[in-house]
Amino acid sequence: MFEEGQLYAPVTADENGDVTVHLADDHPGANDQGYRRRREEIAAPALAWLPGDPVPRVEYTGSENEIWRTVCRELAPKHERLAICGYLEGKEALALPTDHVPQLDEVSAALEPLSGFRLHPAAGLVPLDVFYGSLADGVFHSTQYLRHPSQPLYTPEPDILHEVVGHCNLLANPAIAEVKRRAGEAARRCETPEGLQYVADVFWFTVEFGVMYEDGELRAYGAGLLSSYGEIEEFRGADVRPVSFHEMATLAYDISHYQPILFACDGMGELTDRVAGFFAEFDDETPARLARDAA
Ligand code: TRP
Ligand code: FE
Repeated sequence: MFEEGQLYAPVTADENGDVTVHLADDHPGANDQGYRRRREEIAAPALAWLPGDPVPRVEYTGSENEIWRTVCRELAPKHERLAICGYLEGKEALALPTDHVPQLDEVSAALEPLSGFRLHPAAGLVPLDVFYGSLADGVFHSTQYLRHPSQPLYTPEPDILHEVVGHCNLLANPAIAEVKRRAGEAARRCETPEGLQYVADVFWFTVEFGVMYEDGELRAYGAGLLSSYGEIEEFRGADVRPVSFHEMATLAYDISHYQPILFACDGMGELTDRVAGFFAEFDDETPARLARDAA
């Protein structure tokens, strides 16, 4: 059920409609039956959801709202110190609640006028071509569950905190939203799984874990860094390299630990021109061309 490099837990339903969330053995909630049941309760309506339906609402519990509050409170001063200016602007414009978990429809209502993006619910794993391709239409797939309360600092699997605090605050900035649209268009253009994986790898080292020099200081713009109050404190100690798409696509990475190697853009311009430009021009021939250039 769990494939190498798979980010989200697969969700399946049996013939009675009973839903199972397949957590990896080393997931912090793997042995917590209450957590597993709650994940299934949240996943079931998302799994049954069809585009056009209202996004299922989740009645979040007191302890889930508490995790949201803790992570937002811990992240706020770290964002001021360590996030790029464009993220802070997006965060201010979106003005998400910090005292309770918002509903996805509420986030979409705030996001759409800013950059045209809206959220679709994800029960768990979304196929790569759907996940990336729909970015071209301004659709971002978001999970609705929260991380396990034992490890609020860092979770090995993206949760609603990552999607909303990490990605949606970035998507509230139109220049950064444009980079994601271009990545979606690149994914749509791919006709091979190798091409799609290349897009996913570059997305990983930019949109998910990118860092940027701003006024001589290294800051984060990757959503995976911006949603983890553990990892955001560590990225300045990583092996930080200049942007190389070929290197991003050929480097092996472990998705369940702090990233030891990161790539830095030299200011917003490199992200909005060079990275967006890479996605804008990408097709199935690009990998071979970049490999030849690198040789
Ligand atoms: N570690 C992130 C957090 O704590 C969530 C996360 C897990 C993630 N795996 C990821 C984010 C992969 C981006 C990509 O918020
Ligand atoms: Fe993400």
